[in-house]
Amino acid sequence: MEYELISKPGADEFAVRPNLDDYEGTRAAFDYERVIDELDGLPGGGLNIAYESLDRHVAAGNGEKPCILWESKDGRSETYTYADMARLSNQFANVLQQLGVEKGSRVFVFMDRTPELYAAVFGTLKAGCIIGPLFSAFGPDAIRDRLENSGAVVLVTTPKLKAKVYEVRDDLPELKHLIIADHAEPPEAAEGELSWNELMAAAPETFEIVATGPEDPAIMHYTSGTTGKPKGAVHVHKAVLGHYATGKFVLDMHPDDIYWCTADPGWVTGTSYGMFAPCTNGVTSVIYEGGFSARAWYGVIEKYKVTVWYTAPTAIRMLMKAGDDVPKRHDLSSLRYIMSVGEPLNPEAVVWSEQALGLPFHDNWWQTETGSIMIANYAGQAIKPGSMGQPMPGIEPGIIDDEGNVVEPGTEGDLAVRPGWPSMFRTYWRNEELYNSCFRNGWYITGDRARMDEDGYYWFVGRSDDVINTAGHLVGPFEVESALLEHPAVAEAGVIGKPDPIAMEIVKAFVSLKEGYEATPELRRELIGFARGKLGPGVAPREIDFIDSLPKTRSGKIMRRLLKARELGLDEGDTSTLEDD
Ligand code: PRX
Repeated sequence: MEYELISKPGADEFAVRPNLDDYEGTRAAFDYERVIDELDGLPGGGLNIAYESLDRHVAAGNGEKPCILWESKDGRSETYTYADMARLSNQFANVLQQLGVEKGSRVFVFMDRTPELYAAVFGTLKAGCIIGPLFSAFGPDAIRDRLENSGAVVLVTTPKLKAKVYEVRDDLPELKHLIIADHAEPPEAAEGELSWNELMAAAPETFEIVATGPEDPAIMHYTSGTTGKPKGAVHVHKAVLGHYATGKFVLDMHPDDIYWCTADPGWVTGTSYGMFAPCTNGVTSVIYEGGFSARAWYGVIEKYKVTVWYTAPTAIRMLMKAGDDVPKRHDLSSLRYIMSVGEPLNPEAVVWSEQALGLPFHDNWWQTETGSIMIANYAGQAIKPGSMGQPMPGIEPGIIDDEGNVVEPGTEGDLAVRPGWPSMFRTYWRNEELYNSCFRNGWYITGDRARMDEDGYYWFVGRSDDVINTAGHLVGPFEVESALLEHPAVAEAGVIGKPDPIAMEIVKAFVSLKEGYEATPELRRELIGFARGKLGPGVAPREIDFIDSLPKTRSGKIMRRLLKARELGLDEGDTSTLEDD
């Protein structure tokens, strides 16, 4: 189906909002190194994401401006100004120093979206430590893999979530301090735990930010690949140039905006665009602690008069499914610009939103490793529905072949980016070899397949590996297979992404059983429950099929590609490699 170009909404409005109205001009003149002139740098020299996000606004006299409008799960509102967040993060930085946590140490958070989470992230950055956010729906195995690999010394968690940590604590000898925080009811710290409230109450409200330089590591996010456990993509303080510049040009942030990023900080969108881009641009963010429901989400937009909204295709498809009557019951007239990321955004969703919400979704593309948006449909430009858009100024993507040569427009190839932008990951933690394998002929290889058209717009084709994208979250099949193999009944497991109309893909496992076990519906349920208990509901398989044996190469590697072809009833393709490697 062909779609018409959608011209920019509210053209007059954008005339007085000049962010990237002149795409070609901006692109020609743009230099990331000069973006730093728009930021302040640490007073004593150096660069720190937290300072650029919070303290520089306080220093400029804007401390009383709301930074976070927090809406709790049960509908309570609290406002935190930039000065409040600067103070809270100072206190947490003091807590870390008093605990003797040194610059460069890894500090992890495993919490719901409460103000404490935000204070802990910024405080960790101020103390010169590396922050590692964990998604609060992870199960114990998912937590252990990440904490173990990172060598985290501090974990901030909550009374509700700490049981999952205790299940694996014996495997984490480097984890020295467990801090328990709860926004609703300050808990008593149990033996071997520290109380957030007690530590914070005793911590001074001022803090001299540890001198960090642009290349000092700041944040790590774990991301999944085809093989092996999740790997920690490490970003440095200089990434803030990317957060700030894309916040301005792609998210079109202006000082009077009320901005809502629906992503959880356990994933990179929730930090780069839930914290650093809005805060460095000095806008007011809505943080909604609750989960998805169409009514609740439209209610948040109405209540806080959200103007700029950044969300994801799975959520948009769920809103579409909820029907066009639901948005009609809410006043959504505050919205002026809406964007999507994380999965392919189907053109139908763009057309739907223009009709149902009065605005088209603008798709953009990036990934954990790129740290900030690389390709986008800009606010001031026509959208090509179904396309990810054009490069961010200062970014050079390319579609390349196996030798690393750029292919003709219209030809599918590997989506690559020329290295060197500020928010590019600097390594995979403790896995330099894997990092080095991501490059070909001077390009960083993203793992995505795409095309560029004659107008310079990029179109997503698919992944070049077996990584599963379920509801915008990447899941590594190996992680799921490993968890299933720990069950006594499982002989072999192969895991694929099965196409799904809402979540894009769901995790599906094929399992062969050991002698003496019977393939029953009860065992299937037990295995799903077993994997959920280890990995969490977003990562564990939603479907399991029992099969006698899994297709393998001669060296014993499971042929996931073939499992997927069979699942989809497709031509099984060239199976000659089945017996080879
Ligand atoms: O495959 C691409 C898909 O999500 C991957 C990145 O996921 P992650 O590292 O978790 O980063 C999330 C922050 C965006 C990409 O390699 N992806 C992301 N955006 C799009 C997309 N696929 C299609 N269209 C997009 N706009």
